[in-house]
Amino acid sequence: MSTNTNDNTRKVTTRRLVEMKQRGEKISMLTAYDYSSAKIIDQAGIDCILVGDSASNVMAGNMTTLPITLDQMIYHGKSVMKAVRRALVVVDLPFGSYQGNSKEALASAIRIMKESHAEAVKMEGGAEIRESIERILSAGIPVMGHLGLTPQSINKFGTYAVRAREEAEAEKLIADAKMLEEIGCFAMVLEKIPAQLAERVSKEVSIPTIGIGAGGGCDGQVLVMHDMLGINEGFSPRFLRRYADIGSIMTDAVKHYIDDVKSGEFPNASEQY
Ligand code: KIV
Repeated sequence: MSTNTNDNTRKVTTRRLVEMKQRGEKISMLTAYDYSSAKIIDQAGIDCILVGDSASNVMAGNMTTLPITLDQMIYHGKSVMKAVRRALVVVDLPFGSYQGNSKEALASAIRIMKESHAEAVKMEGGAEIRESIERILSAGIPVMGHLGLTPQSINKFGTYAVRAREEAEAEKLIADAKMLEEIGCFAMVLEKIPAQLAERVSKEVSIPTIGIGAGGGCDGQVLVMHDMLGINEGFSPRFLRRYADIGSIMTDAVKHYIDDVKSGEFPNASEQY
């Protein structure tokens, strides 16, 4: 049985997420990229939906998040927004749409807000993208930060291993987190960093931290829906808890259907006109 005691009708806003942190209520976040699954997870009571650029991997089959385009993110964001009534919807700014300069970053964020009707954007990085974040914030667009393992920089890192284990990188991450808070981001994702560091950041900033592979000390948790439902079967990092095995359920159902078609058992007399 679910222990979710959320008010399942009141719209979640960026402000409400900050209030949840203040009263110690954990924030639940999942990815979605399409109308049908966004509708299911919104109705289940998820607080926040991330239209992540992980769509590049799980929807389009790319090896990294880099190939997905701004137009494709807008398409996914629009589909999700048509379904969602309660959750706060955040859309990732994709690789190449904000790193060039702050004007380009603002133009990309405006396109997402105008064309998808999403309520916030997420951006990977700290000090190096400060100007772009500030410009977007100054246009009234809420920004969620993203520190630690930032998959858009995979070619720089060369590995998806845990980040910020070394003192210097941990110190930079803390400074970046404080900067994101200071300039006005409403929340930040902390991806694949040591749990102790994530807990320290969560205590030292007033905005919510949403962890993925960053331990239980964060103010909330996010998972990629396809991973936690067992649809993306080959992916099983230590931080991932599988809540269902939808991949196997789909395989069995499809095999059953194929057998029924081949044997002529489907459709039967009551399934035709
Ligand atoms: O794109 C995504 O799904 C993400 C999450 C892993 C946080 O950024």
